[in-house]
Amino acid sequence: MYKIGIFDSGVGGLTVLKEIQDVVPSSHIIYYGDNGNAPYGDKTEVEIKELCLKIGDFLYENEVDVIVIACNTATAASIKAMKNKFPIPVIGVIEPGIRAALEVTQNKNIGVILTPASAKMGAYKNVFDVIAPKTYSLTEKGCKLICPMIENGWEDYYGNYLTDEIIKLYIEQISSEIDTLILGCTHYPIVEKNIAKYFKKKIVNPANETVNELLKEFSMIKPKNVINNDAKVEFIVSGDSKKFIDFAEKFLGEKIENIYELDLHKKDKELFYNVI
Ligand code: DGL
Repeated sequence: MYKIGIFDSGVGGLTVLKEIQDVVPSSHIIYYGDNGNAPYGDKTEVEIKELCLKIGDFLYENEVDVIVIACNTATAASIKAMKNKFPIPVIGVIEPGIRAALEVTQNKNIGVILTPASAKMGAYKNVFDVIAPKTYSLTEKGCKLICPMIENGWEDYYGNYLTDEIIKLYIEQISSEIDTLILGCTHYPIVEKNIAKYFKKKIVNPANETVNELLKEFSMIKPKNVINNDAKVEFIVSGDSKKFIDFAEKFLGEKIENIYELDLHKKDKELFYNVI
């Protein structure tokens, strides 16, 4: 059985976890939600990379077979450094997102909504310029308010009024030329139905293609831990576990029991959590 390490700045990576669970139900997943440091989208590239490498150390020390960076901002800031540092596959969400959009677009004009930090790093643009044919174009739109709203659990407030207003604000700024919109932050699929009210063309969630990439890696590596056949998900959060549980139970539709609070960024030496 494969042991998969997944991380995000908070609850956004659950949108990727859900896809992974659907496709690889018999796996042992360690999910690290760095909600004590969310949002990553307001941090600098250097700060984000440092946080990610610590999380990578933690997952690697806990013997995962593969690390999935279930966060676009973290992928942009750290995937090169993570791949250099850890001798196991490291998968991000950006390249899969672009590949999926290239398949779907009809007029070759792709848009991506993402966090301010991702936009500042040119998270999608940098990869797009390398992998997309020159006749395709990509436009990035940084959205400061969507991720913090979800991380604070406000997306249902006033019957979605707040969510709709915030999303409308950003979608109205997107050119009508764009026929395909990538959800370039793993928090955004949580409010996809609200986004779909204002963007009526194709919407791409990079999570699906990310899972395909994971399956490709699995075809090339053997699990380190062949005896363990106890499929489970363990959640570790750096901040408020109560808030995380409330959201995760609602989103995943199951009881969250294996959850631990561990702020890796404060406790330098403590790389292992206690499995009860
Ligand atoms: N889920 C993260 C992403 O995909 C959100 C980052 C944040 O914490 O701002 O970019």
